[in-house]
Amino acid sequence: MKLSSLYFLQILSAIVASAEPVALPYGIRLKTDSQQPLMDPVGPVVPPSHQPADPERPPPAPPQGGVLISDIMGRDRSINIFAGFTRDIASIASRLDDSSKNSTVLAPRNSAVEKLPRKPWEDPKDYDALGANAYEGEDGQDRAHRNIRRFVEAHVVPASPWAEGEKIKTLLDGDREIWWEIKDGVKVIQPDGIEVDSIASRVGNGELWILTGVRNYA
Ligand SMILES: *[C@@H]1O[C@H](CO)[C@@H](O)[C@H](O)[C@H]1NC(C)=O
Repeated sequence: MKLSSLYFLQILSAIVASAEPVALPYGIRLKTDSQQPLMDPVGPVVPPSHQPADPERPPPAPPQGGVLISDIMGRDRSINIFAGFTRDIASIASRLDDSSKNSTVLAPRNSAVEKLPRKPWEDPKDYDALGANAYEGEDGQDRAHRNIRRFVEAHVVPASPWAEGEKIKTLLDGDREIWWEIKDGVKVIQPDGIEVDSIASRVGNGELWILTGVRNYA
């Protein structure tokens, strides 16, 4: 199967998935239930991972930061294409799941990603050098993955809180500095001039911002 159709299917399935009602009640976390062993009619399937509470000692501290960006990326359907990319890139996925590393994620709306003149995994330089088959085969997949990684990295600021006017580099190696300001009452990412539609969430390791456009990162 051609890589582009693979990604297309991925995006399509993300969109289809998003059309379903939210499966989990708000606030339910799947990952941090290690203290509550799974139960079956006979008893715990997994033994408890800690000793019974000692009344002399305070209970174990809750996970630092509580809810993380990784927990909330999938909540807003309007950015589920970008959210899917962040899960595909291991370094990003683990950063957004790390309570000790803050980020401001600049997530472009699906409509902005769909409007791009080229797919986020396409780079005109690859086509110039390799022709129409640039993304075929294993090397092609690696190339596409690398391009997606660059796309995602250009949309993650490795800090939060991020103050107005504070110039900062994204995770993308060699990227220009960016900052944000309020212009005519609207929050914009500069120097690209991309409008921030909303701040979707503030959680333990940062914030998720929704952009109406895509950064020009090439
Ligand atoms: C990380 O983000 C949290 C939540 O916004 C904040 O309380 C904390 O001060 C931030 N840490 C750093 C080092 O910026």
